[in-house]
Amino acid sequence: MSKEIVVSGIRSTGYLHLGNYFGAIQNYVEMQNSYNCYFFVADYHSLTTHPDPKDLKKNVFRVVAENVASGLDPEKVALYAQSDVPEIPELYLMLNMLAYKGELEKVPTFKDKVRMQPDNVNAGLLTYPVLMAADILIHRAVKVPVGKDQEQHLEMARNFANRFNTRYGSEFFPEPQVYRANHETVKIMSLDGNGKMSKSENVNSTIYLSDDDDTIRKKIMKAKTDSGPTEPNSEMPDYIKNLFVLLQVTSTKENYESFLNAYNNCTIRFGDLKRQLAEDMAAFIRPIREKAADLQNDEQMISKILKQGAEKARESSLATIAGARKLIGINYY
Ligand code: TRP
Repeated sequence: MSKEIVVSGIRSTGYLHLGNYFGAIQNYVEMQNSYNCYFFVADYHSLTTHPDPKDLKKNVFRVVAENVASGLDPEKVALYAQSDVPEIPELYLMLNMLAYKGELEKVPTFKDKVRMQPDNVNAGLLTYPVLMAADILIHRAVKVPVGKDQEQHLEMARNFANRFNTRYGSEFFPEPQVYRANHETVKIMSLDGNGKMSKSENVNSTIYLSDDDDTIRKKIMKAKTDSGPTEPNSEMPDYIKNLFVLLQVTSTKENYESFLNAYNNCTIRFGDLKRQLAEDMAAFIRPIREKAADLQNDEQMISKILKQGAEKARESSLATIAGARKLIGINYY
């Protein structure tokens, strides 16, 4: 049986952090053996905020390097830049004719942006979900690994697919569904206890894949703790739970259990926990950081990866566009 088709887009803005690693990249790496995966850097999407042209390539190359360093294998998946596949904007145009202003204006992520950047409410921002639908439908994907915040966009992609199918009388586009990992995804919080780790905010409480050993140590040692539990087996506040989650994913089982016991019998010393965590975290990030840095210094290598990815992605995209044109009636020669 042929493998199911998976698509996911990676934002090209900001530095990748531990939350991205455990929330998304690890999922991708797991999927690459059992699915036909198309993973792309969403560089066209990033134009909604008008990034400096000097930064664009740097951002795209860094995201590619960090994903490959984290275990994504460009031989197994199609890893490409969205802008290298002109069939995506072509499908976006077709789908725009089936997307309505009213429904686009109601999307919560759009309303957030309007609130956050009232001076730049451009049409690209409004039609962001249509471009995202094109990203997915161009490969006629059935599974999309995305977080909760993207589920509404995915529902819109299903609506656009169905509208196309209804209007042009065919089962041309399958309905893409959210992909959920079999296991529970680890949720990583910011080290100051305020929400999630972030690509651009909370920089001192977020561990980036590009952080050096000393930066990691400093950030972990400054992580929020308290004076410790006074009752045995107390419930942990979120910021303490987060340190245990981090210990669990980067340290040995013995270390994790011994600190957990110490917490439960009220003998825990958070300074010791953090010192241990800092060393384990530094050792965990180090090989990823070093590999990503090596790759980033080898522009030719990244270009080669992107080119190879674009070739794979275009093969499937050309077939979809040819089919869509024909169904629409663009069939002149
Ligand atoms: N909107 C997604 C995000 O903000 C990125 C994205 C763009 C995407 N196109 C996609 C994700 C297609 C999955 C499929 O993270």
